[in-house]
Amino acid sequence: MEKRKANLAVLVSGSGSNLAALIDAVNTGIITEGMISLVVSNKKDAYALQRAENAGIPCLSAKRSDFATDEEFDKHLLSSLKAHRIDLVLLAGYMRILTKPLLEAYNERILNIHPSLLPEFGGIGMYGMKVHEEVIRTGITVSGCTVHIVNEHVDQGPILAQASVSVFPDDTPDSLAARILKEEHRLYPATVEKFLTGFRI
Ligand code: GRF
Repeated sequence: MEKRKANLAVLVSGSGSNLAALIDAVNTGIITEGMISLVVSNKKDAYALQRAENAGIPCLSAKRSDFATDEEFDKHLLSSLKAHRIDLVLLAGYMRILTKPLLEAYNERILNIHPSLLPEFGGIGMYGMKVHEEVIRTGITVSGCTVHIVNEHVDQGPILAQASVSVFPDDTPDSLAARILKEEHRLYPATVEKFLTGFRI
């Protein structure tokens, strides 16, 4: 029997350049074992939603403030993931910490990309430009990005892949972020494909 493609959901909050890289990877055959079946945003105005719409991918946006608790919010997302028969969840600039209902339902089936070489510069409060500001402040000469499995400890799940870049003396957080983002766009799709190869649906 032919193996069916895994249904992927991408969770976003912002620009969605990683989402765009994942969409491209499906279209160009870098990702062959999965298809993006749903994009979920917790921000109605996230540009990522526009990208998903342009690509004809079903989208859902939901506001945390419309729910009583973080868990209720995640239960709502979970019901949509289930309705779309999602097999693997990809966090791509998703700015919320996941709670039990999602973590338990998708145990070892949620991946994230983080813009540093974890375990360095990770954890609660270490996101977006804050990561790059801190890297530059400490004066280290190498940074990068990490794809990891998501568990209940923020940025501490098993590491699947990393890519490194140089940090130059004249770097700003913006210039460093751009250099790392380029690597993210290559690393995330390649790692997803590798992960799916050994994936049991
Ligand atoms: C990326 O740097 C990613 O590593 C981090 O959030 C950023 C998202 O960027 N988790 P984008 O929305 O994919 O452009």
